[in-house]
Amino acid sequence: MDQPATPRDPTALPVRVPLASRPLGVMETLGTARRNLLELIPEIATRQPMVSGRTVKRWHMVMDPGANRRILKDALGTYPKSDVTKLILRPAIGESLFVAEGAHWLWQRRAAAPAFSPRHVEALAPVMTAAAERAARRIGQTAGRQANLFDEMVTATFEVIADVTLSGTPAFDRAEVHRAINAYIDTTAKVSLLDIIGAPTWVPRLSRLRAGPVLRTMRSMADRAIAERRGTGPSLPPDLLDLLLEGADPETGRRMSTAELRDNLLTFIVAGHETTALTLAWALYLCAFDPSIQIRARAEASAVLGNRAAQVTDLPALSLCRRIIDETLRLYPPAAFLSRTARGPDRLCGREIRRGDTVMLPIYALHRNHLLWPDPDRFDPDRFLDPDRIDRFAYLPFGGGPRICIGASFALQEATIILATLLARFRFEPVAGRDPEPALILTLRPEGGVWLCATPA
Ligand code: HEM
Repeated sequence: MDQPATPRDPTALPVRVPLASRPLGVMETLGTARRNLLELIPEIATRQPMVSGRTVKRWHMVMDPGANRRILKDALGTYPKSDVTKLILRPAIGESLFVAEGAHWLWQRRAAAPAFSPRHVEALAPVMTAAAERAARRIGQTAGRQANLFDEMVTATFEVIADVTLSGTPAFDRAEVHRAINAYIDTTAKVSLLDIIGAPTWVPRLSRLRAGPVLRTMRSMADRAIAERRGTGPSLPPDLLDLLLEGADPETGRRMSTAELRDNLLTFIVAGHETTALTLAWALYLCAFDPSIQIRARAEASAVLGNRAAQVTDLPALSLCRRIIDETLRLYPPAAFLSRTARGPDRLCGREIRRGDTVMLPIYALHRNHLLWPDPDRFDPDRFLDPDRIDRFAYLPFGGGPRICIGASFALQEATIILATLLARFRFEPVAGRDPEPALILTLRPEGGVWLCATPA
């Protein structure tokens, strides 16, 4: 039985990034970018609809829902993904769904869409339930001791994405792919200084060159898996690889080649597991930060689940657990910074945009903007009790418009299943002096990990 929550200082706020309180010069920008990209966001971005400046290139940060709608939806063709985004991701995932533009993006999106339909995502839920059960068992073994829950969540979400992309493939070595992806993110994905100031794309980046062998390993493993699956035929129920193999652009009938399949498969693995692990790790941090909400969520989860792991049919009864995930994605959006390069002249919030300008959507600042959210730094899952009151383009953890994350409902389903399973079984408490520090590398990571103490509930 839960004890009543120890009263917490009601004005205390969960961890935040110290945002810049004055404009930064070029050298300062470089130093800050090396340390933590989030600190480049000026404090006024949480109080204004738009902030513009120039470091080497002209840039704009947009926090206005109307302007966001224009960038992501109404004038999509004017705002392709930024040169920097493509530069970072192309070596790993080629011209796949995440990076492609125009017609090449559209046909791939159409071919992949059925794999992420509600029916198929629901059919993949048993994999998530099984991963939740294994995570609970592992955490049970650390009971009473401090543990880095971020590492645990990375393991759990990697098991899910590996099992739904490459399940039953003998060529697939889960541990090796995991090592390769982590090495790739560590060596390459740190947004390099040259990228921030807009150096030409041909300037070689040492870290990128070093990532070469890792990428070759990842690619050849995925190629072998695809070849084997073509030989053996689909598994039952079909996993993401089967569904992609079947997928065709409904307009033209075009199917993906092995290289295109491989790039998209790696995209799902890279885009899908760390982001969901971050969501879960930050959600557990927030529950430990606010014991009264944790107690309410545990009451909900244990009433529904008893001692079993959550299944997809439980989700309608786990609405607080789901709101905790929604609020976590507001406070710590894993993709905290979306970036576009203007292809032509335009106006946003009445301001001139020139061809070549960098247009950024600092989702972290959008989600904490005082014009859009009451008391924005406070953890309050009940903001999402009536989602219709939230402007669609004020809350963008998955982006928006036609290029919205294709895996959003997959991720939300997985995160809610795992969170509810863990909250029903364990009480999570913070470890004194070990608060995580939010740092934007490619995603918004808890620097130092999320150290908590889990005890059986
Ligand atoms: C909590 C977890 C996740 C978050 C926060 C997240 C976030 C995002 C965001 C913000 C975008 C849009 C990027 C932009 O417009 O520049 C995006 C796109 C994408 N995501 Fe996710 N994602 C998550 C999970 C997943 C999963 C599980 C998958 C696949 C299994 C996935 C696959 C993709 C793909 C393929 C795109 C590109 C879609 C397109 O351009 O058509 N993501 N994601």
